[in-house]
Amino acid sequence: MATVIDDVVGREARHVVQTYRRNAVTFVRGQGVRLYDATGREYLDLLSGIGVAALGHAHPALARALAEQAQTLVHTSNLFYHPFQGEVAERLATLSGLPRAFFCNSGTEAVEACLKFARRYWFTKGAPRAEFIALDESFHGRTFGSLSVTSDEHYRKPFEPLVPAVKFVPVNDGEALRSAVSQATAAVIVEPIIGEGGIRPLTAEFAAAVQQACAATGALLIADEIQCGMGRTGRPFYFSALGLKPHLVSIGKALGGGFPVGAALVSEEVADTIAFGDHGTTYGGNLLACRAALCVLDELASGLLAQIGRVGRHFEERLRSVAAHHPMVKEVRGVGLMWGLQLDRDAAPVVPAALERGLVVNRTAESVVRLLPPLIITEPDVDEALGRLDGALGAAGAAS
Ligand SMILES: Cc1ncc(COP(=O)(O)O)c(C=O)c1O
Repeated sequence: MATVIDDVVGREARHVVQTYRRNAVTFVRGQGVRLYDATGREYLDLLSGIGVAALGHAHPALARALAEQAQTLVHTSNLFYHPFQGEVAERLATLSGLPRAFFCNSGTEAVEACLKFARRYWFTKGAPRAEFIALDESFHGRTFGSLSVTSDEHYRKPFEPLVPAVKFVPVNDGEALRSAVSQATAAVIVEPIIGEGGIRPLTAEFAAAVQQACAATGALLIADEIQCGMGRTGRPFYFSALGLKPHLVSIGKALGGGFPVGAALVSEEVADTIAFGDHGTTYGGNLLACRAALCVLDELASGLLAQIGRVGRHFEERLRSVAAHHPMVKEVRGVGLMWGLQLDRDAAPVVPAALERGLVVNRTAESVVRLLPPLIITEPDVDEALGRLDGALGAAGAAS
């Protein structure tokens, strides 16, 4: 088996563009909330492929739907109707309150669509507005538009010049937000819970300032729910918990349960300003992608949302009690099944310490341990996983 792993690593080192510093594990199989590596070792997954594998791994209904659809019809393009796209859009409309969807293949494309639709809205109105207001610590993706509203210099610098007319304001600073938004603002874009930036929920006061600034200036509001949406917080979308009323919502990640699919959900007012041919993508919302999304939506509708709420409360309780034993944990932030442990130091050593104990977690924003378990996780799994995390935090704390 060692040779198999060496081959994998060696071949990648020679032939794959080195954009990711990978952990030294080769996963070959999964079942529920568990992953298995090439040596047969078992891991509890508290990351779900960065918030994607909502139904865990090898979920029977998802596997069945994908296999059945693959044997029937996979892709025909958006030049033709198929039976599932309208159905996914209708279900998303019921969950979000936004009646129309544009389907794409990833989170960054969903954000691109939102940004373009916002510009199109003002263009159609005959009063073009170019400016976007975004938040410090935000992450919206890696393509030029979404990178332009992403704050991290490390991601931005090598690719400048980016899309102009983007202003950043500090997270949860209502005053700064109010003074930044004006009649020149096409849209304000926020993650209701900042994900990559360290699992930071927006405060209700800040959300009220966003809502008020948009109402006062006519600026559109884009809620990026790619990481915090699709049930992760125990609600379909977190914007509703904050009292936000977005005109556009970007979704991705959990939407396909592992099959790549994203969407921009938009109000009728915005959709009315978009014409045939304005935007498009070859793959977006094909039969296979929509079958995957329907499967995730089915599970959410048949009890999973309520389960996330319940298990999420248990997760929080257990996580806070584990964190209390480790002085290096300064803060526990999150909601439902989306959590971050703010450390007083670099969180990098926690990741290998967790892997050694059969646990998959991730470090983000340098000093945050991020936990995004599959949405199907149950209380006993939580207890077992957080027991392993306790060991990993202890080992990492002792070593540094
Ligand atoms: C909030 C948010 N927006 C956008 C993206 C980009 O999504 P993708 O990597 O699918 O392009 C991410 C990915 O982490 C995200 O968390």
